[in-house]
Amino acid sequence: MARVLDVGGTGLLGQYLGQEALRRGHHVIATHRGRHAPEDERIEWHRLDIRDASAVSALVRSVRPNLVLNAAAITDVDGCEANPDEAKHVNETAAGQLAWSSKQVGAAFVHISTDYVFDGAGPATEDTEPHPLNAYGATKLFGERAVRQAHPDSILLRLSSVFGWNRLSSKTNAVTWILQKLEAGQEVPLFFDQKVTPTYAKTAAEVAFDLWDQHASGVFHVSCPDCASRVELGRAVAEVFQISNPRLHPISVESMALRAKRPLAPCLVVRKVEETLKRPMPTFRACLEDMKATR
Ligand SMILES: NC(=O)c1ccc[n+]([C@@H]2O[C@H](COP(=O)([O-])OP(=O)(O)OC[C@H]3O[C@@H](n4cnc5c(N)ncnc54)[C@H](OP(=O)(O)O)[C@@H]3O)[C@@H](O)[C@H]2O)c1
Repeated sequence: MARVLDVGGTGLLGQYLGQEALRRGHHVIATHRGRHAPEDERIEWHRLDIRDASAVSALVRSVRPNLVLNAAAITDVDGCEANPDEAKHVNETAAGQLAWSSKQVGAAFVHISTDYVFDGAGPATEDTEPHPLNAYGATKLFGERAVRQAHPDSILLRLSSVFGWNRLSSKTNAVTWILQKLEAGQEVPLFFDQKVTPTYAKTAAEVAFDLWDQHASGVFHVSCPDCASRVELGRAVAEVFQISNPRLHPISVESMALRAKRPLAPCLVVRKVEETLKRPMPTFRACLEDMKATR
């Protein structure tokens, strides 16, 4: 049994990482930022704001983890554009400090990054040169570099449009937002001109632990292999969840006048992780079927 510190344990991915760690029989220590810890007594909860470097260092030293997972980030793309200093503090500086503290106690480190480090000119492998188009992508890219510098053996997972069941908050994601609207009989505006390779949070959590078990290090792209437009994702959600007469409304990215520029096809190539783990990444449909079965 290992001691696993799940930082950002209340976020969507953080929840799946915590559950996966429990499933594998580890002792799970997780952090929450809000006043109240979630009611899961199988997890040892600690309140932490990762911007507080001395609190980060004190927590890591006191819990002495074997593995630290950093799922904490500011993920609001337009919010990062409006508040780049805060985004830099959390996504870059604090990520590097957490990696450094983990290295000091001999803990392995898994950091989470994003497809938004790319400009979306086409499918990206781990060797593709990053070129972020917005503050979120830039702070995540510099966060990757800060982590690698502080903890050279770390595992860095780049994900895309993370989806799954959020059991702790009403915050929606790439799939539950569509599903909520479809089930309410509402029209769902979806980009026809942005293509992504969505990541099921459960897959990312399994991959994180499998790579750690294999003593891997370096950058890995983790997502479903399907590079699909948001409209195509909506169609698949409607089919798997058997929504009759889905009201999908194709719109262009440009029509939304968003604050932050969006990459149009930041699709992730997952060959490296598939070859390393010797298994294929599950398709988007297979992940939706699993969500349906675990609702
Ligand atoms: N969401 C996506 O579509 C997407 C796509 C690609 C990559 N990623 C990456 O995947 C990772 C996980 O994202 P997610 O979808 O699980 O995001 P999420 O649901 O927004 O969770 C982010 C977590 O970070 C915590 N957090 C934010 N600021 C913090 C701070 N100063 N101190 C401590 N905790 C803080 C949040 O806590 P509060 O809720 O209390 O603020 C929340 O628990 C991130 O690294 C993200 O960049 C996400």
